[in-house]
Amino acid sequence: MTNLAIIGTQWGDEGKGKVVDLLGEGADLIVRFQGGNNAGHTLVIDGQSYALHTIPSGVLRPGKVSVVASGVVVDPEDLIREIMGLSARGVAIGPESLKISEKAHMIMPYHRLLDAARENDPSGQKLGTTGRGIGPAYEDKAARTGLRLGDLRSPEVLAKRIAVALREKNCLFEGLYGVPTLKAEDVLKRALSWRERILPYVVDTARLLQDAQAQGKNVLFEGAQGVQLDIDHGTYPYVTSSNPTTGAVSVGTGLPPKALENVLGLVKAYVSRVGEGPFPTELIDAAGDEIREKGHEFGTTTGRPRRCGWLDAVVVKAAAALCGVGQMAVTKLDVLSGLGELKIASHYELDGERIDFLPAELAELSRCRPVYRTSPGFEGDVGQARRLEDLPKGARAYLDLMEELIGLPAALISVGAEREETIVLHRYF
Ligand code: GDP
Ligand code: IMO
Ligand code: MG
Repeated sequence: MTNLAIIGTQWGDEGKGKVVDLLGEGADLIVRFQGGNNAGHTLVIDGQSYALHTIPSGVLRPGKVSVVASGVVVDPEDLIREIMGLSARGVAIGPESLKISEKAHMIMPYHRLLDAARENDPSGQKLGTTGRGIGPAYEDKAARTGLRLGDLRSPEVLAKRIAVALREKNCLFEGLYGVPTLKAEDVLKRALSWRERILPYVVDTARLLQDAQAQGKNVLFEGAQGVQLDIDHGTYPYVTSSNPTTGAVSVGTGLPPKALENVLGLVKAYVSRVGEGPFPTELIDAAGDEIREKGHEFGTTTGRPRRCGWLDAVVVKAAAALCGVGQMAVTKLDVLSGLGELKIASHYELDGERIDFLPAELAELSRCRPVYRTSPGFEGDVGQARRLEDLPKGARAYLDLMEELIGLPAALISVGAEREETIVLHRYF
């Protein structure tokens, strides 16, 4: 039995989907434990690209069980679309292969509306969210006014809870944001229409996972977002509303913390960020544009251009410390080919002092100047490399510098979007 968590060490989009699909071969269950359909995880298999949002990235491997645990917020309408889209492409999904927690909270139509209203409010705080209603859904969970997937079993419970939620939401829509209000009966009708499609998947996933542990199954936990988007430990308030850090594996699944043995930190060979917020190594110049174009850095969920910059060892070391990362999976190394000299931030300078952490105060963080180490760079197509020795000397020098500055060994190196375009150095299962 092996338990492995895969987490993003930066600001998301590190290539978690690809790596989960790859390592999922040896897992019995693949589990999402936090976040929602703000995630966009892309897999490329034999030239076919699949963008997943709520369904775990093991779904393309027949015979595996995909679990959406209680820490995830689920948009039932979007999930139905995702299931139908995959089914139309021949990916069989049924109650045997997909299990969704009865305790997972639902993203309701008014959550999406509230997310959009806040983002569009000229006097408000624009975060650049994915507009999926993630924040408002987690707010209602904490306020204890949320609806859970298990509530779909009872129309009476649904009716009551929707009415309570809308009393407040409609005041905001009408009185503050000037957007149309929602009628409780319309929302109830929509929710009732989800029952037939969603309820067959809804189970007690905590017990399912506890049983799987007892049976010695291999479990892969698929993080969404990245550590710097963590609501407690990230660049608050420019974060998401969940915890992409590994502490959430336990809380979000119902397994004890000691169940987690292995943590693989996903490190993109450079950094990208979508939405607003600090980004010390951002390149707001032609080099940033070149990385964006070569790396196709446009959002899987929203299509927005991603901000790009040099790799930041301070960010990855923070993730390693917060999450107990044992090894790193380096992704998108191929994108750096032909860029000339490469840089990695080893530490920051803040008001003339050397620091090797991200200050909590945004004003201080914005004054941090990254201090770089350089590597000569490399040329040519590295997509065919399957062993370290297949890589050009310059690429190996860059990996060596990464390992030196970050202090973690690489367990795998991804050199292309396809499943096979990977150098595997360590197998977990
Ligand atoms: P995630 O959110 O962490 O799963 O990452 P995304 O799927 O949002 O973004 C990563 C993008 O890079 C996707 O389009 C992947 O297909 C692609 N990708 C993943 N690994 C590699 C790689 O090693 N090289 C290249 N060129 N693309 C990759
Ligand atoms: P994956 O799993 C990159 C960002 C948004 C925004 C902030 C808050 O694909 O790596 P939210 O909609 O969560 O309230 O938005 O978080 N964000 C992501 N950025 N990858 C993601 O997921 C993200 N999920 C949320 O862009 O800045
Ligand atoms: Mg993504």
